[in-house]
Amino acid sequence: MNLILFGPPGAGKGTQAQFIVERFRIPQISTGDMLRAAVKAQTPLGLKAKAIMESGGLVSDEVVLGIVQERLAQSDCESGFVLDGFPRTIPQALSLGDILAGLDRAIDHVISLDVDNAEIIQRLSGRRTCSACGKGYHVLYDPSKNADVCDVCGGALMQREDDKEATVKNRLDVYDRQTAPLKEYYEQAGLLRHINGCGPIRDIQQQIGELLKGPSGDNS
Ligand code: AP5
Repeated sequence: MNLILFGPPGAGKGTQAQFIVERFRIPQISTGDMLRAAVKAQTPLGLKAKAIMESGGLVSDEVVLGIVQERLAQSDCESGFVLDGFPRTIPQALSLGDILAGLDRAIDHVISLDVDNAEIIQRLSGRRTCSACGKGYHVLYDPSKNADVCDVCGGALMQREDDKEATVKNRLDVYDRQTAPLKEYYEQAGLLRHINGCGPIRDIQQQIGELLKGPSGDNS
């Protein structure tokens, strides 16, 4: 099963990707996570991406396509994958089509998590991420048992640099201008599936689980 999780910043792509990984046993490919790891490790790629990410802009298509192409060629993607935060521009979507055609693969579903801007701002301002293992939380909607401490590994919970108010506004503008047009692109390709991204995390998981069941109840 080859999936794209699509939606604005804070729509819940990373949260729902965790569920898909566990339920369908396919890897999550998050370009945001890969870029943040490169920034943390201060690789040449990370040094180039850091300022762009902190401003809420998009890293160049060329750079992002390089890391995705390399990741998709790894053996754990043979049984499928869930792309999170990629593609984000029409050129990225076109190149993804070419990369997959070269591997004799294709996207099965583009799952669009639909969430309004007021809710997004609430979610991003309360988001916390474990600095050690990367697990995501929300101070109100999905809190850790002990404030600022990860339930899984005991690491310290941090706020992402790009979740500050001014940067969030820019990320939403960038999404509207450069990423939202992909909805029409995938709609025309017959691949877009809308999911209401508002409501309890478990309800959204359930909707995605239903969507990914085949007509006979098997996963398609
Ligand atoms: P990236 O990390 O991809 O950020 P994003 O797309 O802006 O998405 P987020 O991670 O902010 O949100 P999400 O949808 O995963 O929401 P989450 O599940 O965490 O990209 C970061 C940057 O990297 C970009 O700005 C860009 O610079 C660069 N980049 C990445 N990919 C690129 C690409 N392809 N091309 C170019 N540049 C690229 O949820 C958010 C919060 O809400 C959490 O606290 C969560 O607990 C909570 N929550 C989730 N679901 C619910 C719910 N149903 N109800 C209540 N709370 C909820």
